[in-house]
Amino acid sequence: MSTSTAAESFAKTTFDIVIVGAGTAALPIAAKLSENPQILVGVLEAGGKNDNDPLIDTPQFLGSTTGNPKYDWKFASVPQEHALGRAIGFPRGKGVGGSTLINYLAWDRASKAEYDTWKTFGEKDDAWDWDSLIPYFKAAEAAAPLSTNPNEYPSMAGLGAVIIHPGVEDALGSEGAVKTSHNSIYSDVIPPYVKAWNNIGTSINTNPWGGDASGLYNVRLAVDRKTGKRASADSAYLTPEVLARQNLKILTGAQATKVLFKRETDNVTATGVEFVVEGKTYVANASKEVVLSAGVIQTPQLLELSGIGNRKFLEALGIETLVDLAGVGENVQDHLFVPMQFLLKPGTKTFDELRNNPDFLAEQQAVYNSSRTGWLAAVDSTVCYNPLSKIVTPAVFSSMLERLEASIAKNKEQGALTPLQEAQYAVQLDLLRAGDVPGLETLLMSKGYVAPEQGKSYFIMMTGVQHPFSRGSIHINSTNPFKAPLIDPNYLSNEFDLESLLAGYRLMEKVVAAEPLKDLIEIRQLPPAILSDDEHALGFIRAAATTGSHLMGSCALARRNLGGVVGNNLKVHGTSNLRIADASIIPLSVSCHIQATVFAIGERAGDVIKRDL
Ligand SMILES: Cc1cc2nc3c(=O)[nH]c(=O)nc-3n(C[C@H](O)[C@H](O)[C@H](O)COP(=O)(O)OP(=O)(O)OC[C@H]3O[C@@H](n4cnc5c(N)ncnc54)[C@H](O)[C@@H]3O)c2cc1C
Ligand SMILES: *[C@@H]1O[C@H](CO)[C@@H](O)[C@H](O)[C@H]1NC(C)=O
Ligand SMILES: *[C@@H]1O[C@H](CO)[C@@H](O)[C@H](O)[C@H]1NC(C)=O
Ligand SMILES: *[C@@H]1O[C@H](CO)[C@@H](O)[C@H](O)[C@H]1NC(C)=O
Ligand SMILES: *[C@@H]1O[C@H](CO)[C@@H](O)[C@H](O)[C@H]1NC(C)=O
Repeated sequence: MSTSTAAESFAKTTFDIVIVGAGTAALPIAAKLSENPQILVGVLEAGGKNDNDPLIDTPQFLGSTTGNPKYDWKFASVPQEHALGRAIGFPRGKGVGGSTLINYLAWDRASKAEYDTWKTFGEKDDAWDWDSLIPYFKAAEAAAPLSTNPNEYPSMAGLGAVIIHPGVEDALGSEGAVKTSHNSIYSDVIPPYVKAWNNIGTSINTNPWGGDASGLYNVRLAVDRKTGKRASADSAYLTPEVLARQNLKILTGAQATKVLFKRETDNVTATGVEFVVEGKTYVANASKEVVLSAGVIQTPQLLELSGIGNRKFLEALGIETLVDLAGVGENVQDHLFVPMQFLLKPGTKTFDELRNNPDFLAEQQAVYNSSRTGWLAAVDSTVCYNPLSKIVTPAVFSSMLERLEASIAKNKEQGALTPLQEAQYAVQLDLLRAGDVPGLETLLMSKGYVAPEQGKSYFIMMTGVQHPFSRGSIHINSTNPFKAPLIDPNYLSNEFDLESLLAGYRLMEKVVAAEPLKDLIEIRQLPPAILSDDEHALGFIRAAATTGSHLMGSCALARRNLGGVVGNNLKVHGTSNLRIADASIIPLSVSCHIQATVFAIGERAGDVIKRDL
């Protein structure tokens, strides 16, 4: 079928449900709802469907699609005032599978206490918290059993490294869609790196999925070990059986431009979605519901284009306000990371070997093609999560906390905080004071990213703030749906985030000074000098900090009087049948890589919608 024929046929169908975006949260919903042959589900996806594409499928090729418009929306922030005016690039997956086509495969969860904060923002009934989310985390996952796919970190541990938390098999799902696994290949940096952390007092956590995600761990990966391929939302949920369903239609190359509504007395009801294919505009009718799963950037964009948002912004663009909802596009949070890069002593084998040695690459390509294993099936998986209180001295910790409390109190007094921020900062302070919930992630990648030289091998470390106090926004600045919205994470606008990154930077210095990692390092390449003076280190952070690609929160799940956008049932406040399911609903940042959380949001949304139909 030609593209325009497919678009016409889509527009001639009256769907029960129309879903916008075929990404991470959308596909669990589409798969679940279409189990019932009586429910007609239509999905609009701006990108294409990429089957058998080695750039997506091959784990070690991650990053190769970044910047390629076939796979990546290539967004960028507005100049960041507190980061030397830099514009930070935001890759975002485009195509059936969304950002799981291009992400870095890490698969984890935050700690129980973090998800439990979410219930303080929503309504009482059907609250979102750890206990209510766990079944959905498990429903999304099929973890390779440890008997055949072991976690090799305990055997790398240094003497005296306490290994915490049993019970991992119970914490993981085994029957879900996304196949997850551990690597079987680790670069030469990993065993000494693990021991270096142990030597500075950080133990290995063998069950970070069980409610306490602190410590050093071997993160699971969204990689199917049987096929050696990336497990994306596409490959996981759109199985041949699901794709064969007559009641599920996925239209690719179709960009939604507006949600259409009819007005009722005290709310609005979505009736369909306007979309554009090859420059031509169509409408898909939805008799029951519309679900926005266009991601953290484009979901608020579509709401505003459709007349749902802050009246002030909408009026300035001449858009009629259907629901005056000031929370749309606000509350944007991200994990901002400060990087360091180190040149390794000659002979240390890392993923740079694939770049340096064409024979090795060819050999590994053959191994991968024939047995779906080897270096191309592996990616880095070492992460370490620490509470701030454990990485700075008690004196620094109380000083940071005191100044933070004072600045929050002052902003509150001056009326500079939204009700949602007031509620969030209160629970964030509680988490900080509790002292055992991680607020910083340190990760490692075993290859050179910044100007790597031929024949040399490197590693980078990055530490990122997981519970930022800075808040940003994403708003349209044009009625043209093809123009990207203004994305302003407002990084480092809160001093506490900057100081936390400084603590993270000093932590990395401690790790690389620890045996036995220390002996492997030839020189520190980034930053090129030792920045013992805090002012210099802060300058480096402002100049080099970059996104961890975990933008979230732009359509927060929170009560309307707090400034929320969706309620516990994911319906947009003031509408009777428009829901959101994607990373934009996360009300408060969690300390993990967020894809498993977004899949859980999709699983839960599917259940809630099914129940309501
Ligand atoms: C480079 C990168 C690396 C990452 N690494 C990791 C990692 O290692 N581990 C981890 O847990 N998380 C990682 N993440 C984060 C995680 O992948 C995302 O947060 C998550 O996939 C977002 O899911 P979503 O459903 O919100 O949106 P998406 O999965 O991005 O889906 C949105 C979909 O909507 C489509 N769309 C948008 N607008 C429209 C429109 N108007 N009409 C039609 N279709 C539209 C898009 O094309 C896309 O397919 C990474 C993200 C990126 C970008
Ligand atoms: C879609 O809805 C509009 C407005 O109610 C209507 O005019 C149109 O005929 C509908 N299209 C289909 C295919 O049902
Ligand atoms: C491996 O397969 C890819 C396609 O998936 C092909 O491009 C490549 O030439 C193959 N390489 C070897 C060494 O078999
Ligand atoms: C927003 O739009 C106005 C009007 O087109 C333009 O003048 C302004 O530069 C835009 N702002 C940004 C940050 O792009
Ligand atoms: C929306 O308004 C209609 C008409 O006033 C009403 O019947 C319906 O219950 C409302 N729905 C919600 C979710 O408020």
